[in-house]
Amino acid sequence: MSVAEIFETMAYGPAPEPAAEAHRWLDAHAPALGHVIDNRAVPPRDGDYFESVDPATGKPLIKIAQGGASDVDAAVAAARAAFDAWSRAPGHVRARHLYALARAVQRHARLLAVLETLDNGKPIRESRDIDVPLVARHFYHHAGWAQLLADEFPGYTPVGVVGAIIPWNFPLLMLAWKVAPALAAGNTVVLKPAEYTSITAVLFAELAREAGLPPGVLNVVTGDGRTGEMLVAHLGVDKIAFTGSTEVGRAIRRATAGTGKRLSLELGGKSPFVVFDDADLDSVVEGVVDTIWFNQGQVCCAGSRLLMQESVAPRLLDKLRARMERLRVGDPLDKAVDIGAIVAPVQLQRIRDLVAQGEREGATVWQPSWACPADGLFYPPTLVTEVAPASTLAQVEVFGPVIAAMTFRTKSEAVALANNTPYGLAASVWSESVNTSLDVARSIKAGTVWINCTNVFDAAAGFGGYRESGFGREGGREGLYEYLRPAWESIPRLSSLAPPAPSGGAWGEASPQTPAKRTAWGSTDTAIPQQPNHADESFNPSHGTTAQPASPPGGEEETTIDEGRLPSPAHGRARWTVDPAGRDRGASQPWGGGEGLPYPPIDRTLKLYIGGKQARPDSGYSRPVLAPDGRYVGEVGEGNRKDIRNAVEAAHAAAAWAATTAHARAQILYYIAENLAARTDELAARLAMIMGADLDAGRTEVEASIERLFTYAAWADKYDGLVHGTPLRGVTLAVNEPIGVLGVACADRYPLLGLIALVAPAIAMGNTVVAVPSERYPLAATDLYQVLDTSDVPAGVVNIVTGPRDALAGVLAAHDDVDAVWYDGADEGARVVEQASAGNLKRVWIISQPPRDLLDPAQGQGRELLREATQVKNIWVPTGD
Ligand code: NAI
Repeated sequence: MSVAEIFETMAYGPAPEPAAEAHRWLDAHAPALGHVIDNRAVPPRDGDYFESVDPATGKPLIKIAQGGASDVDAAVAAARAAFDAWSRAPGHVRARHLYALARAVQRHARLLAVLETLDNGKPIRESRDIDVPLVARHFYHHAGWAQLLADEFPGYTPVGVVGAIIPWNFPLLMLAWKVAPALAAGNTVVLKPAEYTSITAVLFAELAREAGLPPGVLNVVTGDGRTGEMLVAHLGVDKIAFTGSTEVGRAIRRATAGTGKRLSLELGGKSPFVVFDDADLDSVVEGVVDTIWFNQGQVCCAGSRLLMQESVAPRLLDKLRARMERLRVGDPLDKAVDIGAIVAPVQLQRIRDLVAQGEREGATVWQPSWACPADGLFYPPTLVTEVAPASTLAQVEVFGPVIAAMTFRTKSEAVALANNTPYGLAASVWSESVNTSLDVARSIKAGTVWINCTNVFDAAAGFGGYRESGFGREGGREGLYEYLRPAWESIPRLSSLAPPAPSGGAWGEASPQTPAKRTAWGSTDTAIPQQPNHADESFNPSHGTTAQPASPPGGEEETTIDEGRLPSPAHGRARWTVDPAGRDRGASQPWGGGEGLPYPPIDRTLKLYIGGKQARPDSGYSRPVLAPDGRYVGEVGEGNRKDIRNAVEAAHAAAAWAATTAHARAQILYYIAENLAARTDELAARLAMIMGADLDAGRTEVEASIERLFTYAAWADKYDGLVHGTPLRGVTLAVNEPIGVLGVACADRYPLLGLIALVAPAIAMGNTVVAVPSERYPLAATDLYQVLDTSDVPAGVVNIVTGPRDALAGVLAAHDDVDAVWYDGADEGARVVEQASAGNLKRVWIISQPPRDLLDPAQGQGRELLREATQVKNIWVPTGD
């Protein structure tokens, strides 16, 4: 081609990246890569391998070990053995190691980038200029956190052995996102890379060994989902950090339910890319290229829904089509290629199937006029219009270079459309108006919002989801907490690698019915009372369908309270009334007035508290509450599934609470405290009486409750976000947002404090709450109704449903409109709650694992609770022209 012709067409010439070094590395390891355990290459015990293939050519690259149970055992044992020394090493020592890892990545940057491109199919331009530099940045950043850990996270210790399971779309970067913070915080790691892209993880582990990382600190076990499952189930793993599909995230949530294993999930998305009519459309077009054609659209936070203000839609679509004509799809090693190969045939087929489904549903599919290379796994950039908001292409994660375009008219319509999927990973907002863009950024439910930019990442800013995009953050200060736990917790140790201690020892043992369970933690609570379960017959099939009392009604038989059992209803029992000081006044008489005859007490029927009103339980049943000595002290409503549904509805209706100023929330918390204080004597007496405790204990609990209310009133306007130090020219704002509707299930130990200690931080941060109070001592909660009524708490902000705690907690956990559940109770209840939460992947916090004393401020008060009550949204705001 002559120079003149080149000027005419402006066509790109081939610019291939040499791959000889990478092939030399593969040849040196041929025919197969083993696992890396204890810094040694270890062949799979079962001798199974599978092929890793270059998706651009279809040629095999090398065989990969399929990890079996004994391989996973060996890797976990190595990580466990290394944990003690690594976790105790001074932060500075770990900082030096992480710094060495960052340097090693930089020294071998090109080899890593080329191998990544060969294995994954992503353009070399991206692996060289984005993935690998970000990997190095992650290790540098976390070398810093290792150095600062003792000062910046006092009172925290590492979690233990981390099982990290990562996907194939950013193999090295996802490794870095998990390994760097885990090691910085003092954990050891077993990493399972994705089956399509394991090569660079093995190379990284080799580089780590060469850089002097001690044996066992980082172990790599390769294999497919079965290997991942074994790692998830392994008793020697303390935490699972997972990135991948929402389905597998759900499976992992279920598999870890009740085990006490910590879990962070970074899952799928269907992120909106919202364009207002005042946006700079040329920048928007480049933004679309970056949001959906970066990494072939195989990006969890890809802006796969283009939401355009109606007035600019035709112009934007024209510009976009013109730009798409100029995109280049082809050999990923070509430095001038925009879009490389799709990772695997199954993924390519999935993209084709979903686009075909979209067409069947009436969408219009547009692709550029040029054809993709015929060999290899390529798919052209694709624009889909005429997409209905509820259709497949508007709802389902395609994970390919396909963008679905829709229009909106007003800002509120844009927000409604943006939030109209179950996901909440990221969003991008384009507008020249700071008012519009920041307002919309705050209204979209997503963990990351980019304003006038997209797909910008940095180690200093947290990344992670709202809603079904998962929970937990990676990066930044907020991400480090995923790998730390409060130091007051006893060291949770569970392992199949060592025999369990005979009883209550440090090593856990699995119960036959439940998955691995930390018996060392035990239960803070008495066993689950065997009351008839009116909450949901289907929830616990062992309960009958009729709401009969557990013991025959009537009669004067002596009722004793077994450990862990609620006394049976005993209708017909002589009623005892109690004056505020807790002295009983004897059996009431059926008549009153007249000389010497006492008046009968005026009956108080304690209902549920829903939407700011007392509501009769749907079941129509009440449960009696007896003092420990068997005296009848009252009845409370027997809440069921329907009551929970009503309470959740009321809590949603009170969503404006989140927008109330922190000052106003603080005022209300102070006011609750004030009104509680006015009733201290009465409440203390009531607690003493219902628990059979002395008055001092009751007073201590009431006073601690008042103090907690003051604490969270104080915190309401002080739990600030951060401005992260990312390289962005502008600001990256980390905002603490409420989670939404929070279900809270309380323990029996402190009937009043146990409720207030949890509800107060939740509402201080702007959540609304559906609380199930102590099942055994519910009267402490029902006494609160009037306090709430008189303290200006808006209707629906706090809802209280009395009844069978575990059954009601299960209903809350299974409810798709509940955004998080805090459960303070027995291990089996925790398992049920965590399992049920997998439906909408809500955040669950098991307060009782390990057991904590809520009265102790170190365990039951402060930032840990505030963190659990909030989710961090990172808003990236570039500045300048
Ligand atoms: P995946 O979720 O199956 O795989 C991710 C990782 O989990 C891999 O390492 C895999 O071996 C492992 N894994 C699979 N099943 C497991 C199990 N039961 N227990 C433990 N680990 C398990 O993702 P896959 O199949 O590679 O991709 C399927 C779809 O998932 C994609 O089309 C895309 O929609 C989505 N996806 C989303 C990602 C994200 O970052 N949000 C990343 C990868 C895939």
